[in-house]
Amino acid sequence: MLNYVTTNPGKVREATDYLGDDVAQLDFDYVEIQSAELGPIAARGAREAYRHADAPVLVDDAGLFVDALDGFPGPYSSYVEETVGIERVQALVDDAATHRAAFRCVLAYCDGDGFDASPDPIDRDDRIEAAATGPDGDGSDDGLPVKLFEGIVRGRIVEPRGDGGFGYDPIFEHNGRTLAEMNTEEKNAVSHRGRALAKFAEWYQERTR
Ligand code: IMP
Repeated sequence: MLNYVTTNPGKVREATDYLGDDVAQLDFDYVEIQSAELGPIAARGAREAYRHADAPVLVDDAGLFVDALDGFPGPYSSYVEETVGIERVQALVDDAATHRAAFRCVLAYCDGDGFDASPDPIDRDDRIEAAATGPDGDGSDDGLPVKLFEGIVRGRIVEPRGDGGFGYDPIFEHNGRTLAEMNTEEKNAVSHRGRALAKFAEWYQERTR
């Protein structure tokens, strides 16, 4: 059984399309370290969640990166949604020269074992790789290997439309529709999480075969 570590049932709904019944939500609030990148946050969270669960875990960390705001709110997306809310994020971008934005998702897998014999499907971005293999971000390195999978979707920030999905979905438009105007299957086919999950599912199938 794979523990999908999140307090957000919406994420688990999307993940089951890829991982089937072999996945269960682990409602565990890991410490989110401060970093400009999602990778180190997810890697640190996966190590903490694995120690907590003593079973395979998959941490899902996502964020909205708005071009006109130099990538803000990025790793602070959750805090910004809870404090100012998505309508005010949209208002901030309304007058900007560009409404372009990207949604990113990083999945971090940890089961206490190494990955030497496994293929490596992640983008070989140095910072992401460093997060997977290097120090925890809290000054320690407990040696627990973490595998990272990243997915990105590009789109535009628009006035809220639709009532599906969750979070920033109503203000994020991709190919003429907001993510909140798509059902789970449609959103997965284009979304940051769907892309990261597809990479993970392929690798995980090999690993557990
Ligand atoms: P976290 O990954 O749970 O920390 O989420 C960061 C922020 O992004 C929260 O405000 C979530 O609601 C939001 N978020 C995460 N994934 C999605 C998504 O797929 N669509 C829209 N908002 C999302």
